[in-house]
Amino acid sequence: MTDEEYRAGVREALVDAGVDTPAMLSWCDAALQYHTLGEGAQEDYDALTDRIHSLEEQLEGPGNRIFYLALPPAAFGPSVEALGEAGLNRAPGWTRLVVEKPFGTDLGSARELNTRLHTHFREEQVYRIDHYLGKETVQNLLVFRFANPIFESLWNRNHVESVQITVAETVGAGERAGYYDRSGALRDMVQNHLTQLLTLTAMEVPATFGADAIRAEKVKVLHSVSPVVERDVVRGQYTAGEVGDERVPGYREEAAVPGDSDTETFVAIRLEVANWRWQGVPFLLRTGKRLPQRTTEIRVVFRRAPVSIFQRYPSCQVHSNVLTLRLQPNEGFELAFEVKTPGEGIELATQHFRFAYADVFGDLRDAYETLLLDVMTGDQTLFVHADEVEAAWRLYAPLLDSSPSPLPYRSGTWGPDAVEKLS
Ligand code: BG6
Repeated sequence: MTDEEYRAGVREALVDAGVDTPAMLSWCDAALQYHTLGEGAQEDYDALTDRIHSLEEQLEGPGNRIFYLALPPAAFGPSVEALGEAGLNRAPGWTRLVVEKPFGTDLGSARELNTRLHTHFREEQVYRIDHYLGKETVQNLLVFRFANPIFESLWNRNHVESVQITVAETVGAGERAGYYDRSGALRDMVQNHLTQLLTLTAMEVPATFGADAIRAEKVKVLHSVSPVVERDVVRGQYTAGEVGDERVPGYREEAAVPGDSDTETFVAIRLEVANWRWQGVPFLLRTGKRLPQRTTEIRVVFRRAPVSIFQRYPSCQVHSNVLTLRLQPNEGFELAFEVKTPGEGIELATQHFRFAYADVFGDLRDAYETLLLDVMTGDQTLFVHADEVEAAWRLYAPLLDSSPSPLPYRSGTWGPDAVEKLS
């Protein structure tokens, strides 16, 4: 693209987003430049360096640089090295490096990538993206837990029976099948997004609301998880079926997926966080593609009353109180509790206290708006630290090494029946 072609694309995006104010449009013309890096040879980086230097000469203050690497995984290491060797890692002002997922494919490759990154960039300059951390509702987990002591005092093994973390998707591997088939649900979703939700749900209160304090508590959770064993895991792969009204093909029939692929599109894992707060409480992590409904939620199931005084009424089943934090869509939370159904005798019904973000605050902003702004302001709180990414890979290492064939499940269902054995 030429500079002008690039700007035209951005102008169109501004119009689509309804933010095409005169100030934005003139910013677009004055500020945006486009430069193709070619094959990424060192002379390509030298040309980029010259262009950046000539732009920085026109600035009034010192130039700051953000390199945002949204690249095929194999290109991360070489690109970072080339940036470093061209001297682009040292701006007159500050320089930051944003790295998209996937960050490695296992512990060894993540470590190697960290080493390559750290040869040219300090950890304080590195922003590893997990876009789940940019979601308002995920950030709200910390507020929900640590600004509402009524919940926090119940948030432990004495009162919680189980925690279920679900990220269900209706989409299939589709156009990303080429990448997905080499990755699978465990690498694509569990090691990062679900593990982030696990750590935010299980962590202790940090000493401050700062990046280092929060990350340290999250890493401690990962170190406390008992080794994951194969019998606590169910892998699945979708076959043809219906999602809503749509008839969809099976995973092995997707273009770019080999007909005998054993890549899992569904994983359920039962984990235990073996520390004082959580010992004995099962955490069930579950994610899959082509499930009946798109939903991300955390369900905290509280222990039932030890003895039911209503048991002499045959129809009186007392259910657990369940707190459901809905992260997307229909963001908000609900708390299930029992009430007496009006009328003679005693009959119970489950009802809910509900809070919906949309009712109070309208639309929520996109995760990337939050994350990219944080990169610009230099706030690393919502980014994944080197230690954290390695601890997460270490946790799943035994499962990555063994690869039993996934169980088939029909598209539009909640995964293989074998999941029942985990609950
Ligand atoms: C990405 C995964 O990180 O997250 C995709 O690579 C997945 O496979 C996506 O579909 C889900 O993100 P969201 O924000 O739609 O829940």
